[in-house]
Amino acid sequence: MDVRILNTPEQIAVAAGEIFVRLVKENPKAKLGLATGASPVKMYQYLISQYENGYLDFSEVASYNLDEYCDLPRADKNSYYTFMHENLFSQINIKEEHVHLPNGNAADMDAECRRYDRLLADIGGVDVQLLGIGTNGHIGFNEPADAFTEGTYKVKLTDSTIRSNSIYFDEGKMPHYAVTMGVGTIMTAKKIVLIATGESKADAMRAMIRGEVTPHCPASILQTHPDAVIFMDKAAASKL
Ligand code: F6R
Repeated sequence: MDVRILNTPEQIAVAAGEIFVRLVKENPKAKLGLATGASPVKMYQYLISQYENGYLDFSEVASYNLDEYCDLPRADKNSYYTFMHENLFSQINIKEEHVHLPNGNAADMDAECRRYDRLLADIGGVDVQLLGIGTNGHIGFNEPADAFTEGTYKVKLTDSTIRSNSIYFDEGKMPHYAVTMGVGTIMTAKKIVLIATGESKADAMRAMIRGEVTPHCPASILQTHPDAVIFMDKAAASKL
């Protein structure tokens, strides 16, 4: 793992964003694996600024999101589909037909998970996968467990994730299931960029970097990825 400790979330946004900028410059048809949550928002703003100043063109770029809630309409304000459009897609020239998220409302979830994995297999894995990390070491919605997950699947969210994310939902409205790329799917990315900021991520950073590779900290698998870059601020790095 290539661990980079920077002073501020703004510096991280630029440094991580530059990896995406270079990739899209080199390959206008780049396949980007994207994430939701607070961690990537500033980096998305940096990509938008590079698009607005005419430096970046997303017209041939394709995106593949990590995960989506189940049983939440796509147009809901809290769906990851809405999040991605509000925070990135509506502000750049990516084509809607190049945007991919798993469908959390599919009638046949098994078929939907296989469809998403086939999509990713057909492109040979994304060129770069952006990740945040949960305070419990989750990546995507892959929660601590006794075994690493493989392909895309429907997951029951843990109480800790429901508690963290329910701040965005009206009382009792937080979905309890999601569909997520499995750890195996995430590891097919050619490059991985993980962003972690704030003291609440410090334990997870220590377990991910210094701990053993274990499904009890799903992010620890990144120790075995050939090209994983970890960006964190001083607060997230405070327990390394
Ligand atoms: C988001 C995702 C999650 C988040 C993680 C951190 O698509 O898959 O794993 O990256 O929960 O969330 P934030 O960035 O809000 O702290």
